[in-house]
Amino acid sequence: MAIARPRGANDFLPSDTAKWRAVEALLRKMCVEYGFGEIRTPIFEETELFARGVGENTDIVQKEMYTFQDQGGRSLTLRPEFTASVCRAYIENKLYGQPQPQKLYCMGPLFRYERPQAGRFRQFHQFNIEIIGVISPLADAEIISFVWDLYRRLGIQGLVLRLNSVGCPACRAVYRAALQDYLRPSLGELCPTCQHRFARNPMRILDCKSDTCRGISAASPRIIDYLCAECAQHFAAVKQNLEICGIPYSLDSSMVRGLDYYTKTVFEICAEGIGAQSAICGGGRYDGLIEMIGGAPTPAVGVALGMERIFVALAAQNDDIKPQTGIGVFIAADFSVDEAVRQAFAMAYDLRKSGVSTAMDYERKSLKAQLKTANRLQAAYTVILGEAETDRGMALVKDMISGEQIEMTVEQARQHLSQR
Ligand code: HAM
Repeated sequence: MAIARPRGANDFLPSDTAKWRAVEALLRKMCVEYGFGEIRTPIFEETELFARGVGENTDIVQKEMYTFQDQGGRSLTLRPEFTASVCRAYIENKLYGQPQPQKLYCMGPLFRYERPQAGRFRQFHQFNIEIIGVISPLADAEIISFVWDLYRRLGIQGLVLRLNSVGCPACRAVYRAALQDYLRPSLGELCPTCQHRFARNPMRILDCKSDTCRGISAASPRIIDYLCAECAQHFAAVKQNLEICGIPYSLDSSMVRGLDYYTKTVFEICAEGIGAQSAICGGGRYDGLIEMIGGAPTPAVGVALGMERIFVALAAQNDDIKPQTGIGVFIAADFSVDEAVRQAFAMAYDLRKSGVSTAMDYERKSLKAQLKTANRLQAAYTVILGEAETDRGMALVKDMISGEQIEMTVEQARQHLSQR
């Protein structure tokens, strides 16, 4: 029996990867414009990093990690997110000793054992940016403006930016107690998961999808009414900075995010019409994380966007990335003439060396069939080396857009095409 790929993982074929590369190229270009440098961290880390960083009580750590023991008996985990790894690398490589803030980006595969569905996979890809070492609310707004600008450039419509503040440990403790007081009389009616959450992570109850839990939490106290003066001031400044950029937001006090490291600003951007998994990115400020994993107290803010969800959103809106896929030159040779094949192969090598994408056939196919291939590959030019041309040391060069055909010497053809 043939072996299938693992559930929740995908193969990306050339028609897909061309689109991925077009988006990745745009992201890298934007990173230059916004001043982010690339960081690459290992795909696996000590399990402890995520347990401490993402939080013992989160769904990610409790249920979704791909954790294994290596031959040396160490517990390792395939990264379920980037932020903890980037912070570990920031500490380990003493990036705090370099000019601050450190503006870092990364992209690549991540792994979560989730129930696969449209837009949700077990191996998925994120693009992630972090600004580390700055407390200013300008950084929060810069992070949000980056992703907003990206989706605008990609033409994704119907975006909603949901914004909230989860405060700092001091004001959150007061809020947690108030929330528990409010929920306690209805504890028995909450879903089993939320009953568990009540003691350990009551704010996650606000995010529950069950109708009963939603009904109960609808009138619960709101965190933004409990923010301390500093957190309230920070939140007001973030909102003001978004207004300066003309980025609309909708305040959502029930949004708490699924990772425990957040402080102050949290946000998600959802796209219309892409189904249940509508969050195309999520992020926020995490001023306590670096200290939590062994560094000095360091403020930071970041966002990660789901790469797959960009393509889901574009497909749902009947839009698509149109990468440049056509090749430069296709060389069609008469395979019954050895000299024609030799000249074709030499010309292909010369053109490729001078940077022109060039293709030719390998087998004895008719010239007509080869011209069909040239069309399929969307070649800008086709060179025909038939018996009649080869005998005279000539080549027929066809401009596939205008249809114009010019006969020239093989050397002239090579020069002409390498200058295009
Ligand atoms: P997150 O909300 O867990 O945040 O993930 C960010 C985005 O990754 C989601 O909005 C979604 O687009 C995509 N995503 C998450 N899980 C899956 C999945 N199973 N399949 C497909 N796409 C998925 C974080 O990971 C934080 N580290 C973000 C961050 C960076 N916060 C601060 N800096």
